[in-house]
Formats: sequence, C-alpha cells, structure tokens
Amino acid sequence: MNVLLTGGAGYIGSHTAVTLINAGINIVIADNFSNSSPKVLDRIAEITGKRPEFVEVDFCDKAATDALFESHSFDGVIHFAGLKAVGESCRQPIRYYRNNLDSTLTLLEAMAKYNVKRLVFSSSATVYGDQPAPLTESTPTGNCSNPYGWTKYMIEQILKGACDADPELSVVLLRYFNPLGAHESGKIGENPNGIPNNLMPYISQVAVGKLEKLHIFGNDYDTPDGTGVRDYIHVVDLAQGHLDALHYAEKRTGCDVFNLGTGKGYSVLDMVKTFSRVNGVEVPYVIDPRRPGDLATVYADPKKAETVLGWTAKRNLEDMCRDSWNWQSHNPQGY
Ligand code: NAD
Ligand code: UD1
Repeated sequence: MNVLLTGGAGYIGSHTAVTLINAGINIVIADNFSNSSPKVLDRIAEITGKRPEFVEVDFCDKAATDALFESHSFDGVIHFAGLKAVGESCRQPIRYYRNNLDSTLTLLEAMAKYNVKRLVFSSSATVYGDQPAPLTESTPTGNCSNPYGWTKYMIEQILKGACDADPELSVVLLRYFNPLGAHESGKIGENPNGIPNNLMPYISQVAVGKLEKLHIFGNDYDTPDGTGVRDYIHVVDLAQGHLDALHYAEKRTGCDVFNLGTGKGYSVLDMVKTFSRVNGVEVPYVIDPRRPGDLATVYADPKKAETVLGWTAKRNLEDMCRDSWNWQSHNPQGY
C-alpha cells in the first residue's frame, strides 16, 4: 500500500510514519515545514532503518498538490496537515480558516482528479464543544469555542458531503483526545514553537529548567481535586489507530468517525505528580485563575474504536510521562 501523509513531518504524523513503515507500508511524507523540521526525516530513518520519501508541498498550493499526485500513485491519504494552536487561531482566525480549509479542499480536488478514494482525517475532541463526558461519537458536535475548533468541525462537514456525493469514497474521521508522550527511542517527539500552550510540553520544559514553574489554570473546577480533567493518550497508541483506520477504510465506503482516547480522565495535579514520581524530577507549580474557554472534564467513550477497529490504547499514564521526559531530556532544544 502506498500512503500519503500530509503534515507527516509533524508530531503525530512522524509517529504515524514510524508505525506505518514498521507495518511494511510505503509512505510519502509531504509537508511545508510551517511547524516542523526536516530533521524529523533523519530521525524516522534512524528508528526504522528506512528513510521515507519526502516532498515539500504546501497543500494550499493547487499546482504543487496536483504535481505531487501526478508523480505518485497513492492508495490512501492521512491528512494531518493543519495549524493547531488554539490561542493563535483566536488572534489569526483568517489564517487558520484559510490554511486548514483551503489545504483540505485542494487535497480533496486532487484526490478526486487522481482517483484516490481513501482518506483518514485528524479531527479533534474539540468538535464536541461543551458537552458532558464521556463523549461518544454520537454526542452532538459544534459550539466550538475557537476558530481552530471550527476548522475541524467544518472539515468534518466537508468530508461528509464529499462522501455523500461520491459513493466510492471512504473517509475515517479520527477525533483525538489529548495526545502526549513520544516514541520510546526518544528520537522523535513534540517540538512546540515558543512557550507551549499544552500541559505536557509545559511540564517537560519546567522539569528540564527551560521554564520556571507550571501555572495550573484553576483549582476550583467541579473535579476530584479541583483541577481540569482530560483524556491523555500516548502518541504511539494514536499512531496505531491510524494504521487500523487505514485498513478499515480499505474495506468500506462512506464517512465514519471514531474517538481515539483511553476513556480515563486525569487531573492536572495527577499529571504533575505522576510525572515527578516516574521521572524523579521536581515540577514546581502555582495555582492561577482558570484559562478562558477551558472545560472542567473531557474524556472519551472509546468503545466504538475497540469494537469496530479493534483498537485500544495500550500505554498508561506512567508510560506517557516517562516517554515525554525521555524525549525532552535528550532533546532540550527540540530538533
Ligand atoms: P503539528 O503542527 O506537529 O503537525 C502538523 C504538520 O502540518 C506540521 O508539520 C506543519 O508544518 C504541516 N502543515 C501545516 N499546514 C500545512 C500546509 N498548508 N501544507 C503542508 N503542510 C502543512 O501538529 P500535530 O500535533 O502533529 O497535529 C496533526 C494534526 O492533528 C493537525 O491537523 C492537528 O490539528 C490535529 N490534532 C492535533 C492534536 C494535538 O493535541 N496535537 C489534537 C487533536 C487534533
Ligand atoms: C487544548 C485545546 C484543544 C486541543 C487540545 C489538544 C484549548 C481551550 N483547547 O485542549 O482544542 O484539541 O489542547 O491539543 O486550548 N493546563 C494548565 N497549565 C498549562 C497548560 C494546561 O493548568 O500551562 C491545564 C488546562 O487548564 C487543562 C489541562 O491542563 O485542564 C490540559 O490542557 P491542554 O494541554 O492545553 O489541553 P486542552 O485544554 O484539553
């Protein structure tokens, strides 16, 4: 099988690349490096012994996208490419709508033109907005609290429409919960630009001494210890979910959707304590006011992925904390 990974140089794409190569799948990574480094390709080669083919493409560029499809024969596409920073999306909404929607539309036009019928899409639990956990795939979506979330919501609608119009098309929407961790080799991992917004990269950078202390956003939520509860999922488990979704997309047509989460919720304090204990490092913190737009409790009902895809998360919170630290401590400046 020959599979295109748009945005495959990024955090989740690079881990999925390793999983796919190890499964014997031929991959082509295409990325514009707007949020990633070419060095990731060397690291993937070090881990797998095989350097993936890479093509520099901006998927908003129709000519470049067509040229990629003209020169390759793809059996399927995993579409990771997109901008993903929530705060930035509020400051630069047009850039987010333009990049995330345009790249998807351009990709879909090329897929139609070159007769590529399978697509796995990186959606997000953020499409559920403010709904009570556990979230199932039939929980209503919408009411997103930021432009980033709306781009995911809108792309889901676009993909459903594309499937309605083309009975040969097979699309799998994967709604990720909170990905973290890194490949166990410590050679690839999350490499945020500037000060991280997400919890685990922030904790790791405090632990490595790049940041002074963690700011915990609120301890007055209606949760067991008052801090926010999330469903954290190891990125290597997430990567496996893409392989399973690809195989599923081969066997069917239409648009289907799966949560990829563990079904377990952990609080910010659970994360800090587990990270400190497993890695033997201090994570100083202060309690700050709530972050606007944050929810108290978000976790998945992951049963559908287990029943239909045969996928479950295998790695626990200790694995996530250990592997995050292994990556961060060996690569304190990222790639
Ligand atoms: P990432 O930023 O590490 O990877 C995205 C990649 O896409 C980057 O390498 C970037 O350079 C590339 N890219 C962006 N726009 C592009 C364009 N127009 N053309 C070509 N390449 C482009 O992010 P990630 O964490 O690996 O996320 C992958 C996908 O999963 C994204 O769509 C993201 O929105 C989604 N997602 C991520 C999370 C998370 O917490 N990491 C959660 C839910 C969903
Ligand atoms: C955020 C995004 C969401 C995205 C997800 C995964 C928002 C509102 N939502 O979700 O769209 O899909 O990331 O990329 O930004 N926390 C702290 N201190 C910090 C950072 C986080 O206390 O410095 C807390 C948060 O309040 C939250 C938990 O840690 O309770 C997780 O935060 P984060 O990693 O940013 O993920 P989400 O808020 O779940």
